[in-house]
This record gives sequence, structure tokens and C-alpha cells, in this order.
Amino acid sequence: MSMLVLGIESSCDETAAAVIEDGRLIKSNIIASQIKTHAPFGGVVPELASREHLEAIVPVVNSALTQSGVTIDEIDGIAVTKGPGLVGSLLVGLSFAKSLAFSRNKPLVGVNHIEGHVYSVVFENPPIEYPALALVVSGGHTTLFLIPEEGKYAALGRTRDDAAGEAYDKVAKLLGLGYPGGPVIDRLARSGDASAAELVFTVPRMDSPNLDFSFSGLKTAVLRYVKQNRIEPVVNGQHPSQQISDLAASFQDKVIRSLLARLKKAVQRHQPRTIILAGGVAANSALREEMRAGDFGAPVYYPSPQLTTDNAAMIAAAGFPKLARGEHHGFEFSAVASLKLENFILEGYEAPLKARYRL
Ligand code: KG4
Ligand code: ZN
Repeated sequence: MSMLVLGIESSCDETAAAVIEDGRLIKSNIIASQIKTHAPFGGVVPELASREHLEAIVPVVNSALTQSGVTIDEIDGIAVTKGPGLVGSLLVGLSFAKSLAFSRNKPLVGVNHIEGHVYSVVFENPPIEYPALALVVSGGHTTLFLIPEEGKYAALGRTRDDAAGEAYDKVAKLLGLGYPGGPVIDRLARSGDASAAELVFTVPRMDSPNLDFSFSGLKTAVLRYVKQNRIEPVVNGQHPSQQISDLAASFQDKVIRSLLARLKKAVQRHQPRTIILAGGVAANSALREEMRAGDFGAPVYYPSPQLTTDNAAMIAAAGFPKLARGEHHGFEFSAVASLKLENFILEGYEAPLKARYRL
């Protein structure tokens, strides 16, 4: 007997619902993006996001059911994102999922959004073999996990300041390139010469065994470079100058070096059998190329572009093993804006230090 899971995701600026069979087969995957609403502000405006989720949630879930050809009665369980994310946004999906589960008497599980990103690779790749390493790089997170067995996570390193995607978005805003910044910088960097725009910056000392990241110093170096070289931001969608393309290439090169250096160290230490690259920044073409070329001694799994950014298929996939084990979370659990994904700490690793920088 197959198991059908309805996934619901609303943690940031995408309202999404999906129906997944046995954790691996996508029957439908609907995503309503709010990019147009937030683009003029150069970032997500939380109040606007919650309002749009409220408007979108019913039609999005309805289309996911219609497109899958599955009725709500045939659904075996519901998986919903409980965090991390914007609390007002999370609550829309969560309240809706709870009401649906209650009224239709379906088991409900809350899923960590970052664990969802890890599961985004299960649809198009062979099964994950453990131990696995997962690098989750998105607008909100940059974390490297060791996954010794399914469902167990140790954070080997995380960002001490900005997430990699956040750095892309802030640099793009600074250069007048629009929102989200990742895809534009990715495209511009292809025609840029990284060595023509040298970025000078320091990263905080990180000599603990933690494989932590830091992108704030790099972002400040871009700002300094822009000021020193009197670079004008692009206005009204004009074609960016060669100087801006060079700067984009140089910035991107530094981000990729930093991600790959930590990943390589983790591979040497833990000898994984699968490497997972997930989250919005995993869509980056240069990062994918470098990962393909890197000799890690284990296969690297990525999601295809539509599963790279936020979606509900990955939430349903992460919820599937929990529901299949008979887990369900009742109706008491709530949204947790800063939910961590870590259920054990490796010996020698320490709780992360928090450093805050502002541009
Ligand atoms: O996973 P995601 O949709 O949302 C979060 O959970 O944060 O990731 C969105 C982030 C944005 O910061 C966006 O700029 C970045 O992913 N992104 C990219 C690319 N496509 C999206 N970054 C670099 N290169 C790309 N091609
Ligand atoms: Zn995400």
C-alpha cells in the first residue's frame, strides 16, 4: 500500500503545497512565489508576506490536490513547516494544516524547513547512503551537517553572520541588480573576470574544530570596493558595466571558495558516502560546476532548479519517514522562528559563537 503525504510550506515568501507518494514520487508540486511583491523593497517584507500567504494558501492546497488527482480523503498524512522562518508566514501554513488535519482526522507532523532542503534531493537521485554530508545554503542558512543515519543531524559549521544567499541579495541590492540577487549575480559572473576586481577582507578567526562560515567581511569588502572605485549602481534595469560583472565574478568566487574549503575538510574528516548540496544557492551554476569537478570520493546530489528554492515537495518528503513510523505531533506544537536542526553534537565541536555585523 502506498502512502500519500500532503506537504505545506509557508516559511518565507513562497506559499507551496505538494502531494508525494511514498516519499519519492511527486504527484503535484505547486509554488506561489511572492517575488514580485518584495522585489521593489530589495528583500522580503514580513507583513506583506503573511498577507499574501493568507490569500494564497487555500487555492495553492486545492491546486496541489486537483493536479495530483488525489482527494483529501485519500491523503494519509500532512507535513507542514514549523520553522525556521518568519513567524507570521509560518503561522499561516501551520494553522491551515492543523485545521485540515483536525477536520479530516489526518495525522500531522511538523517539519524543520532545513531538513526539508536536505530531502529536496530524494526525488531525482539514487537513495541517500549514510554517513552523508549536507551543505544547506539558502537565503536564511548556511550550514554544513553530518548525517550519520537518516534523521540524525550534527552541525559541523554554520555561518556566524550572514547566510550565503543573504550576502548575494545584499550585494545585488548595493549594485542595483534587483531581488533576488543570486540568479542575477550568477549570470553576470559568467561574463566577468574575477581577477580584475580584487576584494580585500578579513574573516573572523575561526580556529576551533567547527567549520563555521562568515560572509559579512566579504560583503563589506564589496561595499568598500564600490566606494573606492566610484561604481554607480545600475538604474532602471540598464545593462550593467563590465566593472560590475567583474565585481560579481570576484564576489561569487570568494563565496564558492569558502563553501568548498569547509566542505573538503568535512569530507576528509568524515568520509561520507553521499554529499548533498541544497538550498537556494545550490542553484548557482558555478558552484554546481565546481562541485561536479571536485573529487570528493562520494557522489554529489543536487535538486533540480524547481526543487532548489522553497517548495512543499521537500517538506512532504521529510515528513514521510516520520509519518510512516506513526509519529504525529498533535495540535499543541507551534511555529518556531529560529528552530535549529541539530539533534546531537559531535565530540570536540562547540556551540556556535554569535558575531553580528552590519553593513
Ligand atoms: O532556499 P531559498 O528559496 O529560501 C530560503 O530558505 O532562504 O533560497 C533563496 C536564496 C536567495 O538568497 C537567492 O538569492 C539565492 O537563494 N539564490 C541563488 C541562486 N538562485 C537563488 N544564489 C546564487 N546563485 C543562484 N543561481
Ligand atoms: Zn529555504
